Amino acid sequence: MSAATSQDRGARPPLVVKIGGAAGVDLDNVCLDVAELTRRGEHVVVVNGGSDAGDGLLKALSMERTEAMTASGNVVRLTNAATLRVLTMAWVGDVNKRVVISLLAQNVSGLGLCGADGRLLLARRRPPLKVQEAGRTRIEREHVAGEITEVNTRLLGLLLEQGHVPVVCPPAVTVDGVLVNVDADQAAAAIATALGARALVMLSNVPGLLEDPKNPATLVRWSDDLPRAMELATGRMRYKLEAARRALTGGVPVVHVSGAGVPRPVLSALTCEAGTKLTLSRTVVDADA
Ligand SMILES: Nc1ncnc2c1ncn2[C@@H]1O[C@H](COP(=O)(O)OP(=O)(O)OP(=O)(O)O)[C@@H](O)[C@H]1O
Ligand SMILES: [Mg+2]
Repeated sequence: MSAATSQDRGARPPLVVKIGGAAGVDLDNVCLDVAELTRRGEHVVVVNGGSDAGDGLLKALSMERTEAMTASGNVVRLTNAATLRVLTMAWVGDVNKRVVISLLAQNVSGLGLCGADGRLLLARRRPPLKVQEAGRTRIEREHVAGEITEVNTRLLGLLLEQGHVPVVCPPAVTVDGVLVNVDADQAAAAIATALGARALVMLSNVPGLLEDPKNPATLVRWSDDLPRAMELATGRMRYKLEAARRALTGGVPVVHVSGAGVPRPVLSALTCEAGTKLTLSRTVVDADA
């Protein structure tokens, strides 16, 4: 489905707000801002992650996801059909519905959908993963991960036009109807790109991209040098920046990575009073500059 449907409709391009699923994220705080933006007439699509809730439910069920190192040196949490089923319960049944309820409490019609609902996020299953184990390469065939190939912008457009706030979460679905794990940041980037969003705001349990991940005072306020920004990131922040790069190269003019816990988390990110502003181009300007 084609990009920039909002422009085709003559409406203001929507905003995509991704609420991180890491521990300590205040959903209600973000939903207050989403409600304020919708009252101002903005079209907003919310995307929720759910890593903390997912890990918690797996633990409660005495199940676990093992981590593996890929050939390219990235750490991947392996997901098989059984763990994906449990993760889906947490992402869709728990976190997604908590976001919907929080929006309803603000008199906003939140409408929760995972990637399978209305084939919102169509994905291609990734090929078996090559993982490094004790100095050897092993082929991991059980891992069910996907790459988003298409976003159902028609469905999102219909919901936005009718005054709903779509609240979208992984997993995605293949053309054969198989649920596949996709990173929520990647989902948000794909949606923002497909909708021709005016901005993507990614809110997490950290104030933004930090020079030193343990020191919030080292916040990078703005960067238009993604390779340099990537050098600062470790672990899951790398996936977030990779998703930001995808959105920016896909035509989204600006991506904000900011904290979910600050007052007015979406609005303060949009005005650059908080968080890291990412755009396409060259140099990094940090908090000290
Ligand atoms: N340079 C860095 N600056 C900030 N955070 C960093 C950096 N490097 C690594 N991180 C880690 O990245 C984490 C944020 O990514 P994470 O995937 O955990 O959150 P999320 O995307 O909000 O959650 P979810 O994936 O469940 O939606 C931080 O909690 C922090 O530990
Ligand atoms: Mg993440």
